[in-house]
Amino acid sequence: LYTILPPPRDPEACSFERDRVNRLRKLAPAAALRNAAEAMARLRQVKSETELALIEKAVRASMAAHREAMKAVRPGLYEYQVAALMKYVFEREGCERPAYAPVVGSGFNSTVLHYSANTRRMEAGDVLVLDVAGEYSFYAADITRTLPVSGRFTPRQRQIYEIVLGAQKAAIAAIRPGVTVARAGPNSIHKIVVDYLNAQGKDRLGEPLGKYFIHGLSHHVGLSVHDAGPVTRPLEPGMVITVEPGIYIPEEGLGVRIEDMVLVTESGARLLTESLPREAADIERAMGRR
Ligand code: GLY
Ligand code: MN
Ligand code: MN
Repeated sequence: LYTILPPPRDPEACSFERDRVNRLRKLAPAAALRNAAEAMARLRQVKSETELALIEKAVRASMAAHREAMKAVRPGLYEYQVAALMKYVFEREGCERPAYAPVVGSGFNSTVLHYSANTRRMEAGDVLVLDVAGEYSFYAADITRTLPVSGRFTPRQRQIYEIVLGAQKAAIAAIRPGVTVARAGPNSIHKIVVDYLNAQGKDRLGEPLGKYFIHGLSHHVGLSVHDAGPVTRPLEPGMVITVEPGIYIPEEGLGVRIEDMVLVTESGARLLTESLPREAADIERAMGRR
C-alpha cells in the first residue's frame, strides 16, 4: 500500500502522516506500507495544462503588482508601503495570499537575502530589491525586480544591473530539456551564470564578481514556491522554474537580483514573465522618469 510515510527522523514527533499511517496499519494489518512521497514529488515537477493555467494566473496578478510598484516607488516612502501596495494589487487581481514573505529591501537591505522586515524609509540613490508575488488557487508565482528608488540607476548600479541581466539571459538561452539547475554537474545552468559573472565587471578591489552570487540560480515553482522534487533531475518539458541570478556587494550597499519564471518546452524555454519590464531602460520608463 503506497501512502505518504512520516519523516523517518524524530519518530516521537506527532504528525498528520503518522496518525494516518497508524490508522492504515489498523485497517490493513497485513499490508506492507511503502512511501509514495518521492514519486509524488517527481510528478509535481511536471505541470499539467490545468496547473500551468493556475500558475499563469498567479504570474499575471503578481506582474500587475510589480507594475504598480514601479509607478509608485520614490524617495521618502517606507518599504512596507510598497509591500502593502503590491499585496493589495495581487489580491485585487485574484490571488488569495502572498506566495512568500515579501522582500522589499532598499539601500543596504538590497544585499540582505530573505530580508522581510520592510521597515526602512527609502532614499534617493538607493536600489530597491522587490521579491514579491502572490499565490492563486494554491499555485505560487516568484518574481524579483530591482529598481532605482529615484527612477534612474547610477552608472555603477546600471553596470551591475546589466551584468546580472546578461547572466540571466545567458542562462535562459541555455534552457532546454536535459539541462540541470544544480550548482555543478553536466549541463548546469548555474555554472553558466557563475562563469558569466566572473568574466564581467569587478568589485572595488578588482576581484571578479562570481563570489557575490550567494544563492541557487533556480528552483521549481508550483504548489510550493520552492517546489518538491530533486533539483538534480534534468529538465523536462512542462517544468516551471525560476531563473534568479543576483550580485550582492554589502560594502557598496548594492544588491541586484532579477528573477523570472520559465516554462521548459520541447525546444527551449518560454518566459512566463516576459511582459514585465526587465531592461534597465524599460524599468526607468515604467517608473515615469525617462
Ligand atoms: N522568493 C523566494 C525565492 O526567490 O526563492
Ligand atoms: Mn525564487
Ligand atoms: Mn523570489
